Amino acid sequence: MPKTIIVGATSGIGCELARQLAQAGWTLGLTGRRLERLEALKTELPGSVFIQAMDVSQTSRAISALQQLIQTMGGMDLLIISAGISHRNASWEQANEIIKINVQGFAAIAHVGFSFFSEQGFGHLVGLSSISAIRGRGENIAYSASKAFVSNYLQGLRQKTARANKKIIITDILAGWINTPLIRRGGSKRFWVAPVDVAARQIITAIQKKKSRAYVTRRWKLIAWFLLLIPDWWHKRL
Ligand SMILES: NC(=O)c1ccc[n+]([C@@H]2O[C@H](COP(=O)([O-])OP(=O)(O)OC[C@H]3O[C@@H](n4cnc5c(N)ncnc54)[C@H](OP(=O)(O)O)[C@@H]3O)[C@@H](O)[C@H]2O)c1
Repeated sequence: MPKTIIVGATSGIGCELARQLAQAGWTLGLTGRRLERLEALKTELPGSVFIQAMDVSQTSRAISALQQLIQTMGGMDLLIISAGISHRNASWEQANEIIKINVQGFAAIAHVGFSFFSEQGFGHLVGLSSISAIRGRGENIAYSASKAFVSNYLQGLRQKTARANKKIIITDILAGWINTPLIRRGGSKRFWVAPVDVAARQIITAIQKKKSRAYVTRRWKLIAWFLLLIPDWWHKRL
C-alpha cells in the first residue's frame, strides 16, 4: 500500500485528507501538536495509521521527528504539508508565530521530504498554499506573505527536480476559503466557502493527476486570474 505522511492532520483539511486517503487504502503517518487528536484518529481510521506529535516551529525537533516517522513507516511516497496558522490584523507576536510555522516550519519539513525523495529517486510533495499568495493582503499581511513563500519554494523545488531529471512531483495547492477551524476563528464575512470534504476530494484528484498547481475549489482560479491581472491602483482599493 502507498504511504503518505500528513503534517498538520489533527484538524481541517489535513484531517479530512487523512479520512479520505485512509478509505482509499493508504498507509498513513499523521502529525500535529495535539497528541490526543492523533490518538483519536488512529483509533477511528481504518488501515495502518502511524502517529507522531510534532511542532513544526521547533524545527530541529520536527526534522528528527519526521525522519523517525519515515523510518518507522518503512518509507514514504507522498508528503502533504498542511500545517499552518493565520491571524487577521496580527500583532508582531502573532505575525512572528505565522512566520515560524508557515515559513520556517514549512521549509524545514519540505527540505526533509525533498531530500528523502531525492535519495529514493521518486516521491510526491504537496504544499498547502493559498490564493492569498498571489497578492499581498492588508488584513493578513504576514499570512499572505507566508503563502507566497510556500508557492515560491515549491516552484523552486519543481525546477530543481526537473533539472536533476528526478521523478519527484511537486504540487502547489492554492486554496480559496474552505470551511475549517482556521477560517471559523477568523470571523469575517467570506464568500465561496467550500465544505472541507469537497476541498479534500479536489486535492486528492490534483494529487492523482500529478498537477503542478491546483486551485481548490476550482472556481477560485477565476479569483486568482483576477488578482493577477488587476493593476496596483485597483488592488489597493479592494
Ligand atoms: N481553510 C482555508 O480556508 C484555507 C485557505 C487557504 C489555505 N489554507 C491552508 O491550509 C492549511 C490547513 O489549514 P486548515 O484550514 O485545515 O486549518 P486548521 O483546521 O486550523 O488545521 C491546521 C493544522 O495545522 C496544524 N498545525 C498548526 N500549527 C502547527 C505547528 N506549529 N506544528 C505542527 N502542526 C501545526 C494543526 O495541528 P495542531 O494544532 O494539533 O498542531 C492542524 O492540524 C494551512 O496551511 C492553511 O494556511 C486554508
